Amino acid sequence: MDKILVLDFGGQYNLLIARRVRAKHVYAEVRPFQSVTAEGIKASGYRGIIFTGGPNSVYDAASPHIDPRVLELGIPVLGICYGHQLMAYTAGGTVAPSESGSEYGKATLYAEDCALLNGVPAESVCWMSHTDGVRELPEGFRIVAHTDKCAVAAMCDDKRKLYGVQFHPEVTHTEYGSRILENFVFGICRCEAEWKMDDFIRRTVGECRAKLAGKNVIMALSGGVDSSVAAVLLHRAVGEKLTCVFVDHGLLRKDEGDFVENALGKALGLRIVRVNAEERFLSALKGVTEPEKKRKIIGSEFIRVFEEEAGKIGKIDLLAQGTIYPDVIESGKGDSDVIKSHHNVGGLPDRLKFGGIVEPLRELFKDEVREVGRQLGIPRELVERQPFPGPGLAVRIIGEVTREKLSILREADAVFREEIDRAGVVGCSQYFAVLTDTKTVGVMGDARTYGYTVALRAVTTDDFMTASWTKIPYEVLESAAGRITNEIKGVARVVYDITSKPPATVEWE
Ligand code: XMP
Repeated sequence: MDKILVLDFGGQYNLLIARRVRAKHVYAEVRPFQSVTAEGIKASGYRGIIFTGGPNSVYDAASPHIDPRVLELGIPVLGICYGHQLMAYTAGGTVAPSESGSEYGKATLYAEDCALLNGVPAESVCWMSHTDGVRELPEGFRIVAHTDKCAVAAMCDDKRKLYGVQFHPEVTHTEYGSRILENFVFGICRCEAEWKMDDFIRRTVGECRAKLAGKNVIMALSGGVDSSVAAVLLHRAVGEKLTCVFVDHGLLRKDEGDFVENALGKALGLRIVRVNAEERFLSALKGVTEPEKKRKIIGSEFIRVFEEEAGKIGKIDLLAQGTIYPDVIESGKGDSDVIKSHHNVGGLPDRLKFGGIVEPLRELFKDEVREVGRQLGIPRELVERQPFPGPGLAVRIIGEVTREKLSILREADAVFREEIDRAGVVGCSQYFAVLTDTKTVGVMGDARTYGYTVALRAVTTDDFMTASWTKIPYEVLESAAGRITNEIKGVARVVYDITSKPPATVEWE
């Protein structure tokens, strides 16, 4: 199978590059730049190498460098952003802060004819993010594109098949980015499009089978897409040696616990230990109104329950987790503000790491995980389900969490989701109901009512880092509001949340 090596120099979009290549059915794997040698690359039979971007300047003492022999292996190389500068620097050119200053965001790319830019018009939009730029070209290179601020937006040495682009072809804002990657992968590296998701499944199952032979594996199943797909994949590898602990904290959506148990346990044969711990979580949450406190309590209670269950199972060698690539990026951002203390299995303390961790989905993006899930035969409703936060409905109930409020919210949420699904609203990435702690006056028949205000929330987003509120047709909102106030006792009013993220977050708490 033809494969591309993505050499990681610490940029933000590194896995995105691999994902874009894989989406073209060519296998791409990401390796940290320190972990490879020129000989190793040659021996591994890669058809092409991509140097990623990175936050450094090639002249910083601590910045990542590469053995110059990598450029002489006869394997085509594409350098992107920092990778482009590194290629120039390594091949004997010079790099310096751009004379016209940093360039961030949209720019017009003026392209010339070359194998890499084949099919890219003379003017198109590209996406830039850099301070340094290539100043003097290395020998054998020529400039094949520029922007108003960047003289060497793309360079190439056709003879050695070395190409560099200052802009980011992997982001969707670069109009012909996909075409450029295709030119590299197919036109220049001559790869065959023969990689499919079932290759990933076969390889991962095989690797896990070898690595986990004879070992007992435990994992916390949340019923979300990632942990479900990871569990089914691991079950293929180790069968009964995998025990899934499903902690039902009583904060799940309507019928969710049974659904997960049936879909994964009964239908796919996973060994699931379901712990019904509602009582325990609700008493720990009694009287608590502060969002972060709720999250912390649920997180630590979850760990306690999981630990107790693990203790009952006996000897466990490894902990499996449904970590996916965006989790890896997010957890890497150590300096960023804690907006919300996200609770999921990734947050398990060190004492629970057992003999090691298995994370079979670590390199995949959400849509790839879904594809794996579909191919593993996991039901569509599970694979395509919207995200649901670890602390569950507790962060969708403003104020104290009680049984009564949970029951109102569960029903309201089920109605809203049903209405959206029935109407087939497009572009709705996540949609749910929130129970506010505001009670208002209403009138039903001739009588005064006094009940809760339910807020409906629906967002459109690609990555959940930013999101816009979904412009749901009025008729859908109307029927949802009508049904919620009529069918659910205790609700007097329904409102729709029209805030985007930022400034709001998707969840209310
Ligand atoms: P926010 O509210 O931070 O949500 O804008 C972004 C996405 O993350 C989900 N979310 C969570 N997921 N554990 C999770 O696994 C959590 O604690 C958590 N909090 C929020 C949220 O539903 C949205 O999809």
